[in-house]
Amino acid sequence: MAQNKKASATTTIKSGEIWPDTEGKHINAHGGGILYYKGTYYWFGEHKTEGRRGNSTLFGVGAYSSKDLTSWKNEGIVLKVEEADSTSEIIKGCVIERPKVVYNARTKKFVMWFHLELKGKGYEAARTGVATSDNPTGPYTYLKSYRPNAGIWPVNVPADLKEKQVDATNLKWWTPEWTKEVKDGLFIRRDLEQGQMSRDMTVFVDDDGKAYHIHSSEENLTLHISELSNDYLSFTGKWSVLAPAGHNEAPAICKRKGRYYMITSGCTGWDPNAARSFVAESVMGPWTALGNPCVGERANLTFESQGTYILPVQGKKDAFIFMADRWRPKNPIDGRYVWLPIIFEEDKPVLKWQEEWSLEFFDKNKKQNPPLQGKRKLPLGKLP
Ligand code: DGJ
Repeated sequence: MAQNKKASATTTIKSGEIWPDTEGKHINAHGGGILYYKGTYYWFGEHKTEGRRGNSTLFGVGAYSSKDLTSWKNEGIVLKVEEADSTSEIIKGCVIERPKVVYNARTKKFVMWFHLELKGKGYEAARTGVATSDNPTGPYTYLKSYRPNAGIWPVNVPADLKEKQVDATNLKWWTPEWTKEVKDGLFIRRDLEQGQMSRDMTVFVDDDGKAYHIHSSEENLTLHISELSNDYLSFTGKWSVLAPAGHNEAPAICKRKGRYYMITSGCTGWDPNAARSFVAESVMGPWTALGNPCVGERANLTFESQGTYILPVQGKKDAFIFMADRWRPKNPIDGRYVWLPIIFEEDKPVLKWQEEWSLEFFDKNKKQNPPLQGKRKLPLGKLP
């Protein structure tokens, strides 16, 4: 069905299909994230347009609201791109990806972070932008963008690497020597002064109110986990690396029974690849790799999708939804959504294809999400 044909609202989740909003139009909120605030879910995402140029941001970030996670009302464009001021970093035609909104209880502001690429510069700017609003549905005011953590080394890199001198001129990409140097901070050193690259990203607020910005950095080779300031608008300078040279994108994170779980993808542009998963006792790591969380047919392609967010379902204990995008780069507005319940088998998040499902899945599958019997030790083989 063409994305602009009207269709009736749905009460179940059917991944990969047209998902009509309350007006019957396919939801336009790609690379999204969800905020739950006072009884309502707000879904923020990339507002794409028709045709090959549809990934450039011509309007801004869109939002939808819902009480039940299936029926979504279009709340319009909540962060608008700048139309007139050509010096603005968010001038029409820039690229805004993977917007995530969190609520700051101290400042009572809604804070939106997003991956920002400057107009006409491809993906080389690799910045993260921030905007705020007094209301979940905006309007959001753009504040600034960052290359995070300029001048600061991560907490989990040995001190001697900071002083290491490397002549990278003849170092060939993807060779074992090069991989070793990446692990030893080659790109951190390169970008130390100007700040670290930040592309695919998410934001996570922990139970204690501290927020973390998690992003693909170092030419998408290494994930960086950075603590945000108390107002969530800047970086404190405390940060760590996860899976150096592991080539991860699309980070999505949740906390279950005191442990942190992350699901990521590999890096193959708009094409799907196999997801990866990790577990840790602390957000800053160390993280342990758990492998591909997907099982069954098309598990090697994350069911033809790439993750964007892990949504904790309100009112249901330990119920999490893995949200992903089935990109359509030739006509981005027609991109589809893949939402799957996360099943925890022992300590591992597991994703199985569901043709059509509803939130009752979590009540029926309690046995598959059993409480942890005490805290077992994490397996050996920890990553930084
Ligand atoms: C993969 C990323 O996950 C997407 O968000 C987007 O940046 C594409 N790459 C661009 O090729």
